[in-house]
Amino acid sequence: MPLLETATAIREKAHAPYSRFKVGAAIRSASGAVYAGCNVENVAYPQGTCAEAGAIAAMVAGGDTKITEVLVIADSPAPVPPCGGCRQKLSEFADGDVQVTMATTDGLTQTMTMDQLLPGAFTASHMDRV
Ligand code: THU
Repeated sequence: MPLLETATAIREKAHAPYSRFKVGAAIRSASGAVYAGCNVENVAYPQGTCAEAGAIAAMVAGGDTKITEVLVIADSPAPVPPCGGCRQKLSEFADGDVQVTMATTDGLTQTMTMDQLLPGAFTASHMDRV
């Protein structure tokens, strides 16, 4: 299943009554399985979750922990990059060379690696002295 198709479909299910900005995300894991998520907002605004977080939760619940490819889509004038928090969440499961494609609903795409999106990432190795 192409990531674009999966993310586009799940985006329609987003619960975004406050921002009205629907986002869909799809992740391919090392097993080949594809997992999807959409943003789920909350009336207590900070409790909302991003599409990427939903896709990651689905992946882990599905028994996978290694991301090989990511795609995020929204209706935006320019491809929407994952927010800072989601970059860190993705980096928990994605190596630096994993490609993240950002897409718009009208067909623009931009692809960057995790290393480009989160240079100098905090990793487990920074805690090696503990
Ligand atoms: N959002 C995502 O789901 N992923 C992103 O990469 C950027 C932002 C959501 C969060 C919120 O529900 C809405 O977009 C507006 O910020």
